[in-house]
Order: sequence, then C-alpha cells, then structure tokens
Amino acid sequence: KLRRPLVAGNWKMNGLKASVAEFTRIVEGCDGPLAAEVDLMVCPPATLLSAFVAAAAGSDVAIGGQDCHAKPCGAHTGDIAAEMLADAGARAVIVGHSERRCDHGETDAQVRAKAEAARRAGLVAIVCVGETRAEREAGQALDIVRGQLAGSVPDGATGAGLIVAYEPVWAIGTGLTPTNEDIAEVHAALRAALNARFGSEGEAIRLLYGGSVKAENAGEILAVPDVDGALCGGASLKAEAFLAIARSYL
Ligand code: G3H
Repeated sequence: KLRRPLVAGNWKMNGLKASVAEFTRIVEGCDGPLAAEVDLMVCPPATLLSAFVAAAAGSDVAIGGQDCHAKPCGAHTGDIAAEMLADAGARAVIVGHSERRCDHGETDAQVRAKAEAARRAGLVAIVCVGETRAEREAGQALDIVRGQLAGSVPDGATGAGLIVAYEPVWAIGTGLTPTNEDIAEVHAALRAALNARFGSEGEAIRLLYGGSVKAENAGEILAVPDVDGALCGGASLKAEAFLAIARSYL
C-alpha cells in the first residue's frame, strides 16, 4: 500500500498527570494485529509530552507536539521549538491547526515556517487546513483549502516528512461532519494539488480527515477515497473510543 493509515489523537488543552493512565490504556491496546495495519499517534499538551514518551516506550504509539515555534531557540516566552519537541521524544508536530489560526492569528506563511522548522528538527509536520461554515456555505471550500495548502506546505515536502489534515472548522467538536461525498471531493482536490506540486513524493503524503470523528462514524469516513486516516480530538481522550476508531482498519 502506497500510504499507511494513521490515526492520530490531538489532546488539545486537556490532560493532567492523572491522564497518563488513560494514555497507557491506548498503548496497551495497540497490540500486534492493530500495529500491523495502522500507525497510531497521540499529541498531548506539552506538559505531558515527556510522560507520554516514557509511557509509550517500546510500543508502536508515536508522540507528537501540538504546535512549534519557527525558530530553534531564543527570546520567545511561552513558545516551544521543534528541536525541543524532538529532544523530548516527539516524532511529529501539528502545525496550523484551526485553533491556532483562529485563536493566535497564525497565517499560512507562519504555518509554513513552522513546518520548515519541524523538518529541520527531524519531525513530521502535520499541516492542517479547513474551511469555516461561512466559506462552505459560500461554495468556497475547495478554493480555501487549496489556498491554505499552497501557502502552508513548504517546498520539497515528502511523504516521510509531511502529513496534511483536512479539518473543516465547523466540524471540529460540534458532532457535525461533512457528507462522505464532500470529504471525498476535498481530499481529491488536496491529493491532486500535492501530486501536481510534488510528483511521486506528493503521492506518498498522507491525507487525514479531522472533525467529530468517533467510533460510530469512523468506519465510513476512513473508507472514503483519498482518506488515509483520522485526526481525532475529543474521541482521542478516551482509550476505548480512540482504539475503536483505529480498529476500523482491522
Ligand atoms: O485536531 C483535532 C480536531 O480538531 C478534531 O477535533 O474530534 O474533537 O472534533 P474533534
């Protein structure tokens, strides 16, 4: 198979030390048969990164960060460099999540610089794109995500170094999801854009869907053409729900 499925969990601003036990249940559930079919990753808040890395040691569950600064070090109070995430044991980092774009005003150019920082640090960049409800209702969804992709993904991207997540803003945490046809249409557009820009390397870049994925709808969403996995928020906080989503591939 050209692209190995990936089910990733973004814990966002959730989790205390006591949550390591729940994450450990994810690690324990990632048994041989599951790991043979699908990659699993969890992106905890930075405060829990080291504890999750330790809890996942020796397992097939990868750990990622939720954001990084574009620079390797310096006077940037409260920020975390990609190099620091890598040093703590992360293998990937989410950049350009809509909550960063909305809450912190991050632009495509900034997201691209963060993705370049991830590559420099040896991390896989998970670049997020997605339209708002107003943009979808105005018929602009494809143009918006194509524009975000073009502006946020660095030149020279490879299948080993980059993952793209399509997350319609209006589907995040709302229980709403696009129709399978709408997901297929956006993913086909993103796939075509990646292939046109990066050729055979573009073909190897995985495309995740994110936004209200849960055990109940994962089977049909993950079967949509050009969907190579899921980026889960709320459902990733509970081991049973997260593992059930991943088991859709069995
Ligand atoms: O990064 C994850 C997404 O924003 C999806 O969140 O599954 O809670 O809708 P959600």
